[in-house]
Amino acid sequence: MHNLGIAITGSGSAVPATSLHNQRLTELVETSDDWIATRTGICQRRLALPSESLSVLATAASNQAIASAGIKPEDLDLILLATSTPDDLFGSACQVQAKLGAIKAVAFDLTAACSGFVFGLVTAAQYIRAGVYQNVLLIGADILSRWVDWQDRRTCVLFGDGAGAVVLQASKSDRLLGFALKSDGTQNHYLNLGYTGSSQELLSGINVTKGAYQPITMNGKEVYRFAVQKVPEIIDKALFQANLTVDQIDWLLLHQANQRILDAVAQRLNIPEDKVISNLAQYGNTSAASIPLALDEAVRQGKIKPNHIVATSGFGAGLTWGAAIFQWGR
Ligand code: UT7
Repeated sequence: MHNLGIAITGSGSAVPATSLHNQRLTELVETSDDWIATRTGICQRRLALPSESLSVLATAASNQAIASAGIKPEDLDLILLATSTPDDLFGSACQVQAKLGAIKAVAFDLTAACSGFVFGLVTAAQYIRAGVYQNVLLIGADILSRWVDWQDRRTCVLFGDGAGAVVLQASKSDRLLGFALKSDGTQNHYLNLGYTGSSQELLSGINVTKGAYQPITMNGKEVYRFAVQKVPEIIDKALFQANLTVDQIDWLLLHQANQRILDAVAQRLNIPEDKVISNLAQYGNTSAASIPLALDEAVRQGKIKPNHIVATSGFGAGLTWGAAIFQWGR
């Protein structure tokens, strides 16, 4: 008889060593430390050097998560890599599988931008609930520094690089208490990393497109508005499904996009400031990595303890958004 509940039993994270402080961005674009800090809460971010790669960062975070769960790479049945910036457009999860030596695990990428970790959590949970897999590694990792226009002050000040990972295991008691996921492609144009190309004649009468992915473009105001409205709604929905009330939440763990979004969501939900996890001052917006990176830090700092109830929400390009309520630990 299978255990069909889900427990999140380990976490890990990894960031590049190189830091970039706000002040140094003034050498690139017309901005100021004060503008960035007051509008976003970000003070610095980590940047991957050319010698670093998404799969190496993801593997480092994964090794920590596997060790803290007390299992071995060869115990893994599934590796899900949530990323929008793979080393290879065909996916980077298999490279992580090889680097870890997770010989038994099937591995694939999942693309849902800054919602990738929450979407991955729910995806992983379905395999466990169906009794198909018992040990799943979920990674959120992004290197957006390779995809921003460093001349565009509206976006280049926001993002940073990093990776976070968790291990989910089949368990008698189910620790994923509730979730809700949403997508709205009609608002897709507010946040893109799109491919553009031009028509090229391949053979007489047959044209193909030759081009490249273009740097990130974002309508910050619209994405801000969307986040502040939709994130409290979806957390409420996930809480309802979990049969919990807001005051039973120990920690609010949001995608680390902007401190003002964190504050506004907490205020709308009536969650006190001291329950809000925030590390974006140090790392900026690390996209799919931001939730597991902040989760791992909070666990290692002893803030998130076994049995604590965490409400998490990711939101971003797609547009996509989602929330999950889980109880930390076995
Ligand atoms: O991870 C995916 C989800 N992404 C998000 O959640 C991002 C959501 N959006 C935001 O966090 C905010 O909208 C931003 C931080 C991106 C922008 O903050 P804002 O308060 O919405 O600023 P704004 O876009 O309204 O710009 C205000 C002013 C503009 O100047 P004018 O038109 O008022 O003269 C901008 O040109 O600030 C200017 N500005 C800057 N000034 C200095 C924009 N970027 C900068 C900058 N430095 N880096």
